[in-house]
Amino acid sequence: MNEKYEEAKKIAEKYNQEHLLNCYEKLDEENKEKLLDQILNINFEQISELYEKTKKTSNVIPGEGEVKAISYIDKDKISEDKLNEYRKKGKNVIKEGHYAVVTMAGGQGTRLGFNGPKGTYNLGDGIKKTLFEIISDTIKTAKVENEAITIPWYVMTSRENNADTVKFFKENNYFGLPESDVDFFIQGELPMVGKNGKILIDETGIVKEAADGHGGVFSAMYKDGIVEDMQKRGIEWVFIAGVDNILAKIVDPIATGIAIDKKVLATGKSVVKANAKEKVGVFCKKNNKPYVIEYSEITDEMAEMINGDGELIYGESHILCNLFNIKAIESMCKSTLPYHSAFKKAKYINEYGELVVPTEPNAFKFESFMFDAFERLDDMAILRVKREEEFAPIKNAEGVDSPETARRLYLDFMGKDYIGK
Ligand code: UD1
Repeated sequence: MNEKYEEAKKIAEKYNQEHLLNCYEKLDEENKEKLLDQILNINFEQISELYEKTKKTSNVIPGEGEVKAISYIDKDKISEDKLNEYRKKGKNVIKEGHYAVVTMAGGQGTRLGFNGPKGTYNLGDGIKKTLFEIISDTIKTAKVENEAITIPWYVMTSRENNADTVKFFKENNYFGLPESDVDFFIQGELPMVGKNGKILIDETGIVKEAADGHGGVFSAMYKDGIVEDMQKRGIEWVFIAGVDNILAKIVDPIATGIAIDKKVLATGKSVVKANAKEKVGVFCKKNNKPYVIEYSEITDEMAEMINGDGELIYGESHILCNLFNIKAIESMCKSTLPYHSAFKKAKYINEYGELVVPTEPNAFKFESFMFDAFERLDDMAILRVKREEEFAPIKNAEGVDSPETARRLYLDFMGKDYIGK
């Protein structure tokens, strides 16, 4: 056996993961190399720490610091004069080419049940455009409105969907945007771990890895040279959003003007939470720093707390539409964010070399969330916007937050003159 194999074997044994090499002999040369490289690169200490953490309760909030409601600016209540002032400040930034957009499109879109990069999902009926095309429309319209020379667009993909995403953009001629203004970068991955702490092997015989959440956006931007590209272009403000909200106002002079005016390095947009159970994260202050409590981690008691006016105390929904100053990105991209674990169904090859297709969740997936970076900022502005103007997410195949509900919201907002393709 070669030296590399011996080294990998030693490491795997040290961390009680020697099963990873059980099927090594049956692999072709390419996968043998891949598997050894994976084993040599996995941070096993980190994986075992993450696994140990899964045994503790996941509701991280109570007891971990003082949590209270966050103050926000209600866009609807800003005077016309002030609105114009903010708009002017922001427009100057956009016009001069100091503004960029990042779309996080590395997710798997499992809930939507769509096979392929989520951004290539076509809305059909009345819209007949894919999510990527809708985002490109938003950028093109904003370029005209703000008389911008350029608005670079960076798309975060995953190892799994990068090739298909890039191909899709090429085939669609970058949706009419200059090719030099569109760039891609790939987010990181981490191994999946079974209930017993053993790292899983995938159907091809190598380590089963999964996207490590969008919290890796900052470090991936750094590693793939995106931060450097932004610096060269003189980008000062970067709007980072998910791929799935077709009403996301990703080029926003007012949000930018507010951050400049308030001298903060970020603006997060919120909408009023529809009800205590809505599946959205909520903004709050934790230890006096901005923070988002994710819906999977908030306790029922906290979610239902109301103030004297009968409103939810934690009712500013985080819509994954956040604006950052490049200085904030520069400082965040050099460190990692904490990981959260999710218990998922994952196919794998067991110790007898058989494929196991689980019907119940069987494995831990580790993900970091980009909004965990907020508490590293001294402060940020929260801009409450109207749901019907800026939030039409597509998460599920049917029911709430589905293509049907998003389509309706989008068409209502665009007005009767809107013509799909
Ligand atoms: C997300 C937010 C939640 C917010 C809600 C609003 C997270 C963890 N939570 O919930 O606070 O209230 O949106 O709609 O984001 N993505 C990647 N790489 C990954 C994982 C996700 O690029 O590894 C992208 C997806 O492509 C998608 C976005 O991030 O564009 C949201 O991810 P998703 O996991 O669907 O989050 P939600 O549960 O919808």
